[in-house]
Amino acid sequence: FCFRYSGFYQFSVPTLMLKDPELIKQITVKDFDHFTDHRAAIDPELEPLFARNLFTLKGPKWRQMRSTLSGSFTSSKMKNIDEKPLNLKIGDVVWIPIFGFHRDPKHFENPTNFDPERFSDENKRNIKPHTYVPFGAGPRNCIGSRFALLEMKSLFYNLLLNFEIEPTKTTTVPIKLSAKSFNPAPEGGIWLGLKRLTST
Ligand code: HEM
Repeated sequence: FCFRYSGFYQFSVPTLMLKDPELIKQITVKDFDHFTDHRAAIDPELEPLFARNLFTLKGPKWRQMRSTLSGSFTSSKMKNIDEKPLNLKIGDVVWIPIFGFHRDPKHFENPTNFDPERFSDENKRNIKPHTYVPFGAGPRNCIGSRFALLEMKSLFYNLLLNFEIEPTKTTTVPIKLSAKSFNPAPEGGIWLGLKRLTST
């Protein structure tokens, strides 16, 4: 038996951590109206400019700004269980551990292997819904996802067209994550050699 969520405190803030893709769907899509806001990390009194970015805006202010911006980014529209009922209060936090989902062998075979074929047209239908959520899910997902994907594709297209990428003396294989960084980042940086391809 495996629980579909667990809970912990971030100091005094009760936090629910989701472990089940169906719960991700329930919270980010079906019950979105009760879970509209990101947790504010910025105090609008101290940082009036940064506090007004889309990620931080709340309630009606977020809704208005998101639909203003959606025109240029996307055309998306705004729109029980066998465990004991769990009562969440306003202000409680829900976490979706994206990093954990993507590295869970329950959802992805050999999760740490670099295998772009997982996402090929034949294979992508085997990905269980709401287990692969790099850009979040529901109406509050990443507004820049299409731009980010396009940017990465164009970057790699141009790199691979002109260079062969190879390890150097300073490249660490396998990659070791830095314990000092909050975000996952490799210890000592990423070192790669670029060998220019000559056209034959
Ligand atoms: C590979 C690159 C990127 C990744 C992995 C990423 C991931 C995410 C995630 C996980 C969220 C939270 C979604 C949620 O709460 O469900 C988010 C929100 C957001 N992202 Fe991105 N993002 C990326 C690139 C970008 C870019 C290029 C832009 C801007 C051009 C952008 C702008 C935003 C904004 C404004 C939000 C907040 C949206 C809202 O609160 O309505 N992101 N992103």
